[in-house]
Formats: sequence, C-alpha cells, structure tokens
Amino acid sequence: MNDRLGKVINIISEKGLDGLIITGRANTYYLSGFSGSTSYLLIGREKAWLVVDFRYTIQAKNQVFEGIEVVEHADSFYATLDGILAEEGMGAVGFEGNQLTYSEYERFKARLPHAQRLEGIGNEIDLLRIRKDAGEIEAIAQAVRLGDQVFEEILKVIKPGMTESELAAEIEYQMRKLGASGPSFATIVAAGERSAMCHAVPTENRLKPGDALVLDFGVIYRHYCSDMTRTIFIGEPGEEMKKIYRIVLDAQLAALESLHSGMKASDADKVARDIIARAGYGAHFGHSLGHGVGIEIHEEPRLSAKSEDILQDGMVFSVEPGIYVEGLGGVRIEDMVVLVDGKPRNLTGSTKDIIIL
Ligand code: CO
Repeated sequence: MNDRLGKVINIISEKGLDGLIITGRANTYYLSGFSGSTSYLLIGREKAWLVVDFRYTIQAKNQVFEGIEVVEHADSFYATLDGILAEEGMGAVGFEGNQLTYSEYERFKARLPHAQRLEGIGNEIDLLRIRKDAGEIEAIAQAVRLGDQVFEEILKVIKPGMTESELAAEIEYQMRKLGASGPSFATIVAAGERSAMCHAVPTENRLKPGDALVLDFGVIYRHYCSDMTRTIFIGEPGEEMKKIYRIVLDAQLAALESLHSGMKASDADKVARDIIARAGYGAHFGHSLGHGVGIEIHEEPRLSAKSEDILQDGMVFSVEPGIYVEGLGGVRIEDMVVLVDGKPRNLTGSTKDIIIL
C-alpha cells in the first residue's frame, strides 16, 4: 500500500468502517493511477480492488499502482463489488458524500446487500489532495509553462476582426499542438463590453480597436491542470480601462507578496479586495481571489473572504483578482502559485505589463 492509500486506510479505521468505495474521477486517479472514465475503487483495510468493465481492463492493468488488484466485472459492477464485500466480510462501507449521486446511492443500497452500513464521508478524500507532493508540483509547473507558451503563440495571431470563437479555437489548437491533452475548462475569450462577464462564453463577437480582451484558459498536461488569465488591449484603451488595469495589477501583486504558509486564505483575499475597494471598485470584484488547482481545475483550498482554509506548503492555487464594469469592460489577471518552504513560488511566467496590440 502506498502513502496515499495509507492515509485513506487511516480514515477508514477512524470511522470504524471496513472499506470505502471511491467513484470520483480525480480521487480515483490520485489513489490508484487509473485515469479512465468509469470504475469503482474499493479500498479495504489491507487491500484495494479496482473494478472496471471490459473497455478498461488493459488500461487499468497498465496504470494502477502496485498492490491494487484490477477486477473486470462479471455480470455487473454491483454484483462484483458485493461479491468482494461478502468474501472479505466488509459490512460497513463508506463512500464520497460529495461525489456519489443520489441515484447511485440508491443503487448501492439496493444492489450491495452485504454493505449493511453505508456512510457518506463528505469531501475528506478530496482534502487528501490539498497539499501536492514534489512530483505533482513538477507536473503542474509543466502544465503552467505550457499555458505560457500558448499565450506567447496566441499573441502572434490576435488581430481586429477575429471573432472570440475563432480565437478560442486557436488557443485550444495551440494547447494540443504544444503537447497538452486538452483544455482544463472551456476557454474564455471575452472582448469589449463582454469582458465584464467573468465567465463569458466565446461568441461571434468580433475584436475591434479599443477593446479589452480577457483570455482565461488552462491546459491538462500529464493529468494536471493549469489556469491563467491575461487581459490585453486591441489598440489604445480608454483612460478608465487603463486605470482599472493598474488597480487589478496592484491588487494581484500585493496579494502575491502577502502569501506565506500559515496565513489564512481569507487574509490573502482581503489584501487584494482592500486595494480594489480603496480605489472605488469594491462592488466590481464579485468573485473570490483564487482556488486550488491540481487534478481538478477547481479544488481546495479556496481563497475567499469566507474561507477558513490555512495556506500551507505544497498548496497550489490561483491568484486572480478582477474588476468588471457593466457597459465598459473587465480586467482579470491570474497566476498560479505554489507555497514552498513557507514562501510563494509563482509558476506563471507570462508578462503582466500592459499589452496593447
Ligand atoms: Co481560475
């Protein structure tokens, strides 16, 4: 049993369970190495089984960590799982409370008769992923570097008259071309007034002189995500947009500067929020400062005003303040950071000097 499974076994014992069924995809990859789309990872106190269907047997055998037995299901996943529960005498079985759908829970109840006790354990397994090990940090750093390369390439192709959708397609094409397995979320390209929508979906809107252009994208590389945002301008922007850009950049730099292990995540949020509020745009920064990034694009920790998370070494997260003014436009600047030896290391290399194309 590896370290990660060892931690799960501690949770299982603490809760007086005999085993745990993992169905969340990120947790499955983290704990077993298997990256397919369907499986049931049953972890007992001494052994673990990855139950897959025919489509995934070969892949699972190639990918799973040592000590995990790959089982191709016979009649159904449930019959196979229940068979293992019976054989091993496992009656108290946990599941990820934040991953299992209600209908799947109903099926567990109906079709796993040997699991006399079924217990949701919330997001405790997700929390095991909150601090990254050296291998994970390296994978994420490479994903972020790839994102930087995409940005560099994309600056060469942006020109007035292009649509947001065309630009999003170019960004995702570059990702693949540079070695990513795909985007880590639907690429955001928002120009002009539309840049005031934080999560705008690219449209047929054409880039025109004076537009602010928010580019928010990330890649998946070796199963880990990156996330970055840059706001650039198509020709000379108006005075207010320039001012907003400077405020957002000041807020972002100050928040980055403030980071250290042991601090409250909410304090980092406050550093950025106070600067934006003092400049008179408090009501226009309506989202949190950042979020953890790893196997999933949004994971723990959360850097928001309400967060109770304490930032610690090994945490990887985004720092992305923004200001959005309806009818004018928006600016967001986002880097990804890892805390090492108490201090932040900025993984994102792309310039934050104002870019006017
Ligand atoms: Co983000």
